[in-house]
Amino acid sequence: MSKLNILIFPDSRLRTKAQTIEQVDDEVRQLANDMLETMYDAAGIGLAATQVDVHRRLLVADVSSEGSEPLVLINPEIIEKQGEQLHDEGCLSVPGIYAQVARAEKIRVSALNLDGEPFETEAEGLLAICIQHEMDHLNGVLFVDYLSPLKKRLVRKKLLKMKRANEEVLA
Ligand code: NI
Repeated sequence: MSKLNILIFPDSRLRTKAQTIEQVDDEVRQLANDMLETMYDAAGIGLAATQVDVHRRLLVADVSSEGSEPLVLINPEIIEKQGEQLHDEGCLSVPGIYAQVARAEKIRVSALNLDGEPFETEAEGLLAICIQHEMDHLNGVLFVDYLSPLKKRLVRKKLLKMKRANEEVLA
């Protein structure tokens, strides 16, 4: 397994729409393993292939507190949505920014597993948020896209400030 590099907003590659995975082979399984390692290492609860600059429809998630429930979804599709929930979201590609986003409370998802077999699963609460957030990544959408123009300006300001602070450290 190896750790992958995570793209950081506003990297334009984060806007790429991922392609359907035609065949679940060893390369895909390796990618899923590497993405899980990368996610755990960054203390994240979800990661989409888009974020590691691989534009294929694969996401990993684990919302358990012990990091003991890895979930891999290949070509995920939401087939049912129910209710609404508001939650502060963050993103490994938008470090230091947290903002409230409205998502479905409960979802039913179809996907392929690591053997290439189709399955369906239900998710609610945090896992439902996480899957919806990661599926957005596969379509080139980031959670900050949902914010009001005013909030977006504040986020941009904060990111610019963080970038400057980083540059000062490096200088
Ligand atoms: Ni994200």
